Amino acid sequence: MKPRVLSGIQPTGNLHIGNYLGALRNWVKIQYDYESIFCIVDLHAVTVYQKPEDLKAKIVELAGLFLAAGIDPKHSMVIVQSMVPGHAELAWLLTCVTPVGWLQRMTQFKAKSEEQETIGSGLMQYPVLMAADILLYQAKVVPVGDDQSQHLELARDIAQRFNSLYGDTFVMPETRLPAVGARVMGLDEPEKKMSKSAPGSGHAVALLDPPEVIRKKIMRATTDSNPAVDFEKAGPGVVNLLAIFQAFSDWPDDKMKAHFSDMRYGDLKKQVAEMVETSLDPIQRRYREITSDPGYLDGVLRAGAERVDPIARSTVELVKGRMGVYTRG
Ligand code: TRP
Repeated sequence: MKPRVLSGIQPTGNLHIGNYLGALRNWVKIQYDYESIFCIVDLHAVTVYQKPEDLKAKIVELAGLFLAAGIDPKHSMVIVQSMVPGHAELAWLLTCVTPVGWLQRMTQFKAKSEEQETIGSGLMQYPVLMAADILLYQAKVVPVGDDQSQHLELARDIAQRFNSLYGDTFVMPETRLPAVGARVMGLDEPEKKMSKSAPGSGHAVALLDPPEVIRKKIMRATTDSNPAVDFEKAGPGVVNLLAIFQAFSDWPDDKMKAHFSDMRYGDLKKQVAEMVETSLDPIQRRYREITSDPGYLDGVLRAGAERVDPIARSTVELVKGRMGVYTRG
């Protein structure tokens, strides 16, 4: 049997080229090497308030983008976290073996709780729910960005603690960081990773942005005070534009150097914009096709939930049995 891979994205904000190059494209490439589960983590999204009608639309949009980018629902299981009760159930059971101190130490929790006036307890439990997503399916490989590696380590700590308290139950999940060059930075703030929730309209190129919007955002991207591309001295904004071009084109370094050395920034931006537009065009077309049938995505998500449900149930039963809580057997 193929090893299992699992990853997840929150249905908030707009999926952008950083999510595509850093995560989604990689999932598409590796999906057939594994038994693959790709999860839309709406229970994570509600750790901060979401407008109900927007959230529902975002879940369906994200499912459409998964498929448009090339996730094959005949092979891979595309699921919505809240449709499979095992995620929340296992999260509770794991919460009970997780010391509060472990959660208070999480850097993402510290950063996010500074932004909120009142901190929902779900925000602190966030990484336990993520551990449950992974351990529910005994996933071996978990491709995430480096900002999630602390959470993954916590998932391993929780698994280990459970195993030592109740006997061997969970497989240890491994982190799978994406290949180099896949980290896309904000167009307006090239020191920061491109974010789905950053407010500025010039920050990220969304996968569904129309060509003229893509062009406008890239033409306005932050560069530096040099007049033209100098690979030795380029600032972070220029490095980022070149990285975006290279990630979409798959050009080797020497070809990048030969082509872009001494190119003026205006021309560089035009070429990057064109590369991004032509790369996103087929994804956008497929997205329109997929969403032209309103019932289709709902069917895919229901089928995904049905396929994973037996795996989820058997883990929850196993864990309950180990802990001694009552089961239906
Ligand atoms: N916390 C992850 C993020 O923000 C999303 C996520 C939730 C996830 N559950 C997961 C990623 C399980 C990998 C595996 O990126």
